[in-house]
Amino acid sequence: MKYFFLSYIFVGAIIVSAFGFRGSKSELPPLEILPDMDQQAKVKYQASSEFFADGRGARLPVKGTLPMGFEIPSKPAVDGAKPSRVGFSSGLGYYDTGKMGDYYGDGLPKEITGDKELFTVDFIKRGEQRYNINCAICHGISGNGKGVTSKYGILTAFNFQQAGNLDPANAAAYRADGAIFDVITNGKGLMGSYGGNITVQDRWAIVAYIRTLQFAAQESKVTLPLQ
Ligand code: HEC
Repeated sequence: MKYFFLSYIFVGAIIVSAFGFRGSKSELPPLEILPDMDQQAKVKYQASSEFFADGRGARLPVKGTLPMGFEIPSKPAVDGAKPSRVGFSSGLGYYDTGKMGDYYGDGLPKEITGDKELFTVDFIKRGEQRYNINCAICHGISGNGKGVTSKYGILTAFNFQQAGNLDPANAAAYRADGAIFDVITNGKGLMGSYGGNITVQDRWAIVAYIRTLQFAAQESKVTLPLQ
């Protein structure tokens, strides 16, 4: 009986200390058991900083570097070579969203196919490079969904080769180009979004490269038994 009362009081004290003070106000700074990132050694934007001699918190890019998403114009601008912003635009057209109205579109947008300087073999090579950097760890170099992370528990990365049936009638496996573009931009299910890391143009280059991976996988299926 004695132990029953003791544990009764003990449990009561825990419940009161955990929930009893919820909602009560205090002037003191909160107890931070798990501080997360509440306290950060950073300069807020638009704020000044004594750390720098000129007192400005916001810094200009280091000389000779370019912020992500900017590139030096291929032709020098008349008024000096100012970097132009490419890539992370947020337009509403097919090029920026992969959607035509409410539906995913298919095919590369005319902004890419219409640009003779851009849309060459190098475009797919660029896609290969970007794919190998950003996607291959999970989806595999060959697109078979077995990247290095499959050894560490990411087992559901999409197998592009299974979706290699390029027949749009095969709806379950088929993803329209715009749908792949959208997954890169916004992520889907267990996959995070890469829209903040990969420019719009590079996303389309990756889509084009995924198609070549699929063609390659299909080709090998057709030719192997004949060898
Ligand atoms: C960290 C691992 C990881 C990386 C990196 C990654 N993915 Fe994924 N991806 C996944 C997983 C896991 C799924 C399955 C998501 C689900 O169904 O929940 C997936 C699904 C997909 C799908 C299919 C979505 C659908 O319609 O069902 C596409 C397309 C895709 N990824 C493209 C890409 C591309 C392109 C890249 C590179 C820019 C990339 N992924 C990078 C893990 C990854």
